[in-house]
Parts: sequence; structure tokens; C-alpha cells
Amino acid sequence: MKPEWQRTHACGVLRPEHIGQHVRLNGWVHRIRDLGGLVFIDLRDRTGLVQVVFDPSISPELVKQASNLRVEYCVAIAGEVRRRRPGAENPKLATGEIEVFAHALHVFNPSKTPPFPINEENLQVDESVRLKYRYLDLRRPAMYRRLELRHRIVKYIRDFLSERGFLEIETPILIKSTPEGARDYLVPSRLYPGKFYALPQSPQQLKQLLMVAGVERYFQIARCFRDEDPRADRQPEFTQLDLEMSFVTQEDILNLIEELFTSMIETCTDKRVLKPFPRLTYNEALARYGTDKPDLRFGLELHELTDILRETEFQAFRNAIEAGGIVKAICLPGCAHYSRKQIDELTEFVKRFGAKGLATIAFTAEGIRSPIAKFLSEAELSAIQQRTGAQTGDLVAIVADTPKVVNECLSRLRHRMGHELGLADPNLLAFAWIVDFPLLEWNAEEGRWEPSHHPFTAPREEDIPLLDTDPGKVRANCYDLVCNGNELASGSIRIHQRELQNKIFKLLGYSDAEIQERFGHLLEAFEYGAPPHGGIAPGIDRLVMLLTGDETIRNVIAFPKNTAMVDVMFGAPSPVSEEQLRELHLKVVLDDEA
Ligand code: AMO
Ligand code: AMP
Repeated sequence: MKPEWQRTHACGVLRPEHIGQHVRLNGWVHRIRDLGGLVFIDLRDRTGLVQVVFDPSISPELVKQASNLRVEYCVAIAGEVRRRRPGAENPKLATGEIEVFAHALHVFNPSKTPPFPINEENLQVDESVRLKYRYLDLRRPAMYRRLELRHRIVKYIRDFLSERGFLEIETPILIKSTPEGARDYLVPSRLYPGKFYALPQSPQQLKQLLMVAGVERYFQIARCFRDEDPRADRQPEFTQLDLEMSFVTQEDILNLIEELFTSMIETCTDKRVLKPFPRLTYNEALARYGTDKPDLRFGLELHELTDILRETEFQAFRNAIEAGGIVKAICLPGCAHYSRKQIDELTEFVKRFGAKGLATIAFTAEGIRSPIAKFLSEAELSAIQQRTGAQTGDLVAIVADTPKVVNECLSRLRHRMGHELGLADPNLLAFAWIVDFPLLEWNAEEGRWEPSHHPFTAPREEDIPLLDTDPGKVRANCYDLVCNGNELASGSIRIHQRELQNKIFKLLGYSDAEIQERFGHLLEAFEYGAPPHGGIAPGIDRLVMLLTGDETIRNVIAFPKNTAMVDVMFGAPSPVSEEQLRELHLKVVLDDEA
């Protein structure tokens, strides 16, 4: 650009103290008001808006030029800062007391009419259009603010950890398959026909190897790649704050992260954080909330009724209990007046998650209203009321089924009602640590044990003997950080001894040959004085989503994939040329040709 058009000031910084100064501004035409003979524009750059006036008393020719401007033209303006005339101030605008009287205008580049308005804050635009024209979507001030917040968060993290002796170290993107529970993205090797790199699902093994290397305190703002089925809070590539420490206890890691998160949120946002973070065991979380990622902004706890209803005449409950299932309830305050239609709707809702029905008991001033009251004894009804703490005006909702179905349905119902009843304060961040996860979970379909975190997680020392007798009972030294119903971070103390790691791999069903092929490098490293170590990885996208209050992580990622995993701006994934395939020793066989 020509230096004579270069800005002297940013648009959003001008204030009454600049009155009388001659300034040059660069930016985009945000809004135009052409009053015929007098043209006002709002000029926008990333710092904000300022009103510019083109007045015929300065130059009729200039007013004519200005009346040809359209929104999103990229321009330079030279002019004088003046106080707005009394009554014309705009208190909603930081620059609302002043305006710039234009003396000259230069158009860097005109703009086609954008496919959606950039100058409306609350516009509802189809996401596919926003993603196709992401560079225009990001021009919207609300989107710029998200990018800016994300930057401040990441910078805060970097500064905080650097002050505490952590080194930021990059690890490779082209590596070998690492198990984190998803599918790998593979990259074919040109030089080695038939061989592939895998993109890391996380830098898990690399950060452990950095501990073997004696780094002691590592972090990285790391990109991770997982070929997973899409969800609102998932992307095929996402960012973690990946962190690992040597010679630490679980307590050290939880305290560090708790201090980082609370101070970061207090510094970078105006959200409220509940301190200290409560800790729940996995079993406690399931018992009280039906999920290992409860929203703790509200109570609405679940209550187990199985013991009360063991002898009940209501067959749906009795059958479920006799089949080894459970009965649990939630008390919905002030919902006793719910209509048949509303209750049917809640019933349909829980049926989507596997429930066979939803039994309700309304405690009204006129007595109990319930489709199942006739099957329940007085004693059972009053025990239910006592257990759930139901008061007059409350509605108790009950599900009987396998523990999995009961917990899933009631935790979903709890989440939904917490929001519907206005109990989920949007300005509150209710973090919690979930600890004492089981080390392994039984995959009944495939008849094998799976790690509930990942295979590098250390079992609790005192539970190690159970590995041989009752592996399902072994608790892990691992922890999740949850907030407002989201899993934000997972981590663990790791295994650092070859023998134990080998034993776990075998429990997970790997053969000796597979262990050697996939993890030989790690096992060998453990033989060279590997230190005890552990770490954690908070998801940065999910964290920023919570801080902005967005419903999807796509809103806090500059260039996300859509819900079908497609980059609609670039059109990726896309076919490649025969030539490229040949070089990579690949041949594409589509399903219907195979
Ligand atoms: P885990 O697999 O639990 O642990 O991931 C840690 C955190 O990363 C975020 N996350 C995601 N965010 C967006 N899209 C996804 N597809 C996605 N998958 C995960 C979540 C999650 O809590 N190596 C271990 C960590 C460790 O043990 O230190 C790991 O990756 O916020
Ligand atoms: P039914 O006996 O099927 O007519 O059901 C009577 C009431 O109990 C209805 O409100 C059902 O929604 C509810 N119900 C049926 N099965 C279950 C179950 N497994 N758990 C909770 N409520 C149920």
C-alpha cells in the first residue's frame, strides 16, 4: 500500500481527546447512510467502529465519491476528529462522542455484496454459508472477539506454565499409530511403498518419552487428529494443552491445573468460578448424577429407590429389579402441575435414551397424582417422598431398567430440566474433578477389556494384585476435569515400569508380537531409568467454547470442518490426481467396484 494512505489511528480508539487532530483510518465500510448530499459511514476495523461524515462543505466531489461506497469496501479515509453535535452522540459506541470529518477517501478494493450481513450481531445464517465464506464470517465483530479471547487464553497458559519451569516442546505430526480410542488418520509414504505414517491422536507417548529424556516439565499447545464420528463438541482435528510432569503425585497435577484454570478465567473473562473444585469419585458421580460429567451448577440429584421397591407390586419396577436392574428417581421442583402432555413429552424424551417408560408422582396440595399410585403402597409412596425430598408442588420422575439405561436417561433428563427450569446460570463455571475411575472396562460385544482412559494409565498401587484376580475392580490413578456438563480434560499418572506396562498390554489382549511392534520403543525406553510421571490434557476448543457460552466448538475454531467433517471452504476431502496416487503407490477402489 502507499504510505500516504497508511493509518495513523485505529478506528475504535478515537475519543474526545483526539478532537481537532487530523487522522487517517483504514478499514471496511460497515454501514452507510446516504442522506442525499450528506453521507455517513461507520468505518470498521478490528478495534471497533467510528462514524465518518462526508459533508458537501468540505467537497461536493468527495460526497459523490462516498455515495458510491458499498458495505465491505476496503478503504482509507483522511479527516479531522470532531465532537458530534449535541444529541447525536451514540452511547452504545466507544467512539460515540466523536466523528471524523472526511477530507479524502481512497478505495483499496471494492466488495461484492456479501452473502450474509456482516453488520448484524445476532444474525441467524445457515452454518454452511458461514463456513464457505469463513473469511467473511470472521469479519463479524463477535467472531473476532472469539479469536481474540482464544489468543488471550493460550497466551495466559503459555505465560503461566513458563513461569513455573515448563518447556514448550513440539512433537511430530507424522508418527506411528497411538491408541486413544479413535481411528487414525493415515498418511501414505512415497518413499516406502505400502507403509504409512499416522497422525497423532495425541502426543501421549511422545510426552512420556520426554519424561524419560529428563525434561521433567513439558507442555505443548498440540494439535490432535482423530477420525471420529462427528458431534457438537468434537472435531477431527482439535487442540489440547498437553502437559506432563516427572516426580509428581496426582495431587500436584490437580492443584496446578486448578490454579491455572481459576486464575486464567478470573484474568481473561468475567465468568464466576466456584472454588475449590469439588472432587467426586467416578462411582459417586454416577450414583448422584448418572454421568461422569455432571453439570454442577444445579442440584437435581438422582436418588436410588431400588431398596424401597424390591417387594413392590408394580411389575415394571419389580421386573427390572429382579433382572438385576435398578430404580432411580429425580425430583423436579415446582413441576407437580405438569400436564399430561408435558409428561408424555418427557416420557418420549427418556425413551430416546432407552427407557421403557417414565413413571411420575406429583405431590400436590390435593394429594398425590400418579399413574402408578394404585400399584404402590402407602409405605412405598412415603419412602419415595422422603428419599427424594419431594415437597408439595414437586414432581418425582422414576426410571427402572439396567443401571446403564437408568443413569443415561435420568442424567439426560436432569440436564434438560436444569436448563428448562433456569437453574443453569450462564455466568457460572462449575468445575469438578472426577477421580478413581476403573482402570478397565469390559467390552461385552467384543469380549475383551478396554482401558477406560488409555493403556498407559497406572493402576492404583494397592489395587495392582487385583489385576490377576478381578481386573474390573482395579481403580486407576486417573482424573477428568469436568465443567458445566462437559469433559474438559483427562489425565493420569502413568505406568513407568516395563513389566507392569507389558502386563496391561497383555490384559488388553495384545499378543507379544503386537506389543513389540506397536510399543517396543516405549517399553525399551522404560528400561533406561524412566522416572515416575503423569500429566493431563485439557481440550482448548472445549474450554474456549465454555468461556464464550457457545453451543458448538466450531464457533471457536477459525477454520473448522462442518458436522459432516467436510471443509466446505476448500472442498476437502477431495479427489487427487492419478499422478499423486501413483507416486504414493496407491490405487483407489470404491466400494461398488470392489
Ligand atoms: P483424551 O482423549 O481424554 O486424553 O483427550 C483430552 C481432552 O481433549 C479434548 N478432546 C476433543 N476436543 C475436540 N474434539 C475432539 N474430537 C476431542 N477429543 C478429545 C477433550 C478431552 O477431555 N493423551 C490423553 C491425555 C493424557 O492422559 O494426558 C488424551 O488425549 O477436552
Ligand atoms: P404401564 O404399566 O406400561 O402402563 O406403565 C405405567 C406407567 O409406568 C407409565 O407412566 C409408564 O411410562 C411407566 N413405566 C413403565 N415402565 C417403566 C420403567 N421401566 N421405568 C419407569 N417407568 C415405567
